[in-house]
Amino acid sequence: MNYLDNIILGDCEDVLKDVPSDSIDLIFTSPPYADQRQQTYGGISPDDYVDWFMPKADQFFRVLKPTGTFVLNIKERVANGERHVYVIDLILEMRKRGWLWTEEFVWHKKNSYPGKWPNRFRDNWERLIQFNRHKKFNMYQEAVMVPVGGWAKHRLSSLSDTDKMRDESRVGSGFGKNVSNWVGRDMVYPNNVIHMATESSNKRHSAVFPIGLPAWFIRLFTQPSDTVLDPFIGSGSTAVAALRLGRHYIGIDTNREYVDLSRQRIQNTQIPLPGVAEHREIPYAASSSDKEVDHNGAT
Ligand SMILES: C[S@@+](CC[C@H](N)C(=O)[O-])C[C@H]1O[C@@H](n2cnc3c(N)ncnc32)[C@H](O)[C@@H]1O
Repeated sequence: MNYLDNIILGDCEDVLKDVPSDSIDLIFTSPPYADQRQQTYGGISPDDYVDWFMPKADQFFRVLKPTGTFVLNIKERVANGERHVYVIDLILEMRKRGWLWTEEFVWHKKNSYPGKWPNRFRDNWERLIQFNRHKKFNMYQEAVMVPVGGWAKHRLSSLSDTDKMRDESRVGSGFGKNVSNWVGRDMVYPNNVIHMATESSNKRHSAVFPIGLPAWFIRLFTQPSDTVLDPFIGSGSTAVAALRLGRHYIGIDTNREYVDLSRQRIQNTQIPLPGVAEHREIPYAASSSDKEVDHNGAT
């Protein structure tokens, strides 16, 4: 079976056994959250989550290239009035099995509507946990640079003496900054909070993330022609993003309806000419019209 550029029906733990070791550059995925949406796609009890996930994570470890990255979109649910600790347990277990917990990003859901419960406010963000096999992994930071922003005009127009030298952290963290380094620059590196609206136009799957989310990580951790795997592909968002950016994809889902939906979305996706995808990107530029257009420019 040809796995590359395909959406495969099946349990990712089984399907991945036939995928060669060290063959994937990026795994980007959002697995079923514990106990959520039981009706829709079979939630797992929070207490069983780590046991359910780890055999799959072992396969992810095997198929990922040593230079590759695994990004896990997840959020701990509330159980019995407190946040369940299965995500924390999962991170600890992943470390025991050899993964490095390299970084964590926050997805701030920009379009969240107001809400309130007796003891908490609306959940407005999710974790994107980055794991790696090795300390040295491929990362293309220039690909996600953002316009310097309005603050620079005022802040950089009148620099103090401190701004012109390295200003060491006052809390002794070892970090420092030299504000004058940014004079004359149009683009700067982003931080680890990603502000992006949730996807609401896709009514056929209940947990779709915006195309811009996988697209951002695909650009950060891969180059054209690299391979991106989403082992819980759902409606196909990661594959669509990969295709638009000129990367290969592999998607897996246990649900036939979602496999069909993913394939359909892929068929409707325009493939950019080689070399064009990378140049068309406008980091953080919100799209206005086309619903399927990436919020990060992966059109
Ligand atoms: C949170 S959804 C993914 C949504 C996706 N990110 C999107 O944008 O549409 C998780 C998906 O995992 C699938 N799934 C659940 N268990 C699975 C397994 N063992 N192997 C593969 N897919 C599985 C579910 O059918 C569901 O579509």
